[in-house]
Amino acid sequence: MSLSLWTYCAVATMQPGAAHAYGLIDDAALVVDGSMLRWVGPRRDLPADLLNRCTHQHDAAGALITPGLIDCHTHLVYGGDRSHEFELRLNGASYEEIAQSGGGIVSTVLATRTASPEALTAQAQRRLQQLLAEGVTTLEIKSGYGLDLAQERKCLQVARTLGQSNAVAIRTTFLGAHAVPPEFAGRTDDYLDEVLRMLPVLHAEGLVDAVDAFCERIAFSPAQIARLFDAARALGLPMKLHAEQLSDSGGAQLAARFGATSCDHLEWLSDAGAAAMAAVHSVAVLLPGAFYFLRETKLPPVDLLRCHQVPIAIATDSNPGSSPCTSLLLMLNMACTLFRLTPEEALAGVTRHAAQALGLTDRGVLAPGLRADFVLWDVQRPAQLSYALGANPCRQTIFNGTPR
Ligand code: NIG
Ligand code: FE
Repeated sequence: MSLSLWTYCAVATMQPGAAHAYGLIDDAALVVDGSMLRWVGPRRDLPADLLNRCTHQHDAAGALITPGLIDCHTHLVYGGDRSHEFELRLNGASYEEIAQSGGGIVSTVLATRTASPEALTAQAQRRLQQLLAEGVTTLEIKSGYGLDLAQERKCLQVARTLGQSNAVAIRTTFLGAHAVPPEFAGRTDDYLDEVLRMLPVLHAEGLVDAVDAFCERIAFSPAQIARLFDAARALGLPMKLHAEQLSDSGGAQLAARFGATSCDHLEWLSDAGAAAMAAVHSVAVLLPGAFYFLRETKLPPVDLLRCHQVPIAIATDSNPGSSPCTSLLLMLNMACTLFRLTPEEALAGVTRHAAQALGLTDRGVLAPGLRADFVLWDVQRPAQLSYALGANPCRQTIFNGTPR
């Protein structure tokens, strides 16, 4: 196997507990062995025998190298858009009012159901392209706009197809319990029975990497979600939850009871919820795009999360209703400006902690033995990645050891 060497760069390894912030190594060297990292450290410490075996040498010409970015919460596959509801909201309607009057998630469900797989793929591909251009190497895609077996299957298959036709790792999440579809209106428990029938089928077809649900007064209660999580646990699937976005529904405690890998949104998270998450090492996935776009005023309790040492991840939540966003770098900026994360916390949120939110232990930091997913940035300091608005300093992305 040929080894390749990258030099004339600084590397933000994002290793926890490193001597320098961001695990930063100035004048670093990085050795890639096929699809894996073989060595990373100060260039002067590179062992001579390793150097001699490097058949390819890359001059990074002063780039900053970080782990490939991970967008750990997206709803990338959907039909239509909701610019009409954006207009309604600007004329005074609220997100919840629109949802209750048959718009919201349900309107995207109708547009998604009538779209062909090819049309959905083409639409999602454009969004994916924008994420990839900013150095995303792994992303999660949820279903949840199909809401019956055939339609959820269609969306999950589109997500898988995107992973096959692009140099990116895609993790699929079954979000059948996202909303109650029109044909089940007023019969939430009956719809949940249907979701419980879909899950094992889609799982058996290899379409499901994790299970998510929307725990909210306009969606599903903790008791209803417990039934779904019992089924997920029986199948050995990791769980995640949209929790405490619009109210404190006790979703985080419920998710923690099932050892969920993450709880997402969390603006209304309570002290008890944060403590429960900490006890099971659940990651808090904060979604500044949704907070911003819905003009929320209740901030997620970042100090509480810090105090309980709950790892914080950041994601786009890319979706038509609450976060029509395809820039993870913009989310870094918003996590800092709106939620007061430090740029180092924000970068950990789209690397190390985002990997943890997806239950992935082979990426998110740059260390020997892990995947060779990394990005060369035209910046001098890691904080510049959070600092700029609308800039894209991504020069090159290496996915699985190969430049893309
Ligand atoms: O993550 N909170 C629930 N689901 C999405 C919004 C979906 C939509 O409005 O279409 C979210 O914000
Ligand atoms: Fe979401």
